[in-house]
Amino acid sequence: MGFDIPEPYVWDESFRVFYETLDTEHKGLFQGIFACIGENSQGNLDTLRDKVEKHFSTEEGMMKKNNYADYDSHKKLHAEFVGKLAALSAPLDGPSVYYSKNWLVNHIKGIDFKYKGKLG
Ligand code: FEO
Repeated sequence: MGFDIPEPYVWDESFRVFYETLDTEHKGLFQGIFACIGENSQGNLDTLRDKVEKHFSTEEGMMKKNNYADYDSHKKLHAEFVGKLAALSAPLDGPSVYYSKNWLVNHIKGIDFKYKGKLG
């Protein structure tokens, strides 16, 4: 269900939201998950969590600054993902890897895309 998961798991132009900072951070999130697939270590999982939290903070800041209407519901989805990641530990099992890959793809294309053209 949802959007196709790229294989190999790498950001591509179809994920572009047209804000350079956010596109760069999204690329980093793909890399963070890709790294966990390559070396399924606690260090890589911790790095992914840091990247995720930093990105959500950047994105929420931009939404807030622009009085984005869906700020609250979007922020809630971020918090849910942070909570899921916090409950995981390395090595990630197959379902957890799939969940993370699928969540990011569908969040960017299904939720982030709604702010395209609305943030300054
Ligand atoms: Fe780019 Fe809402 O995360």
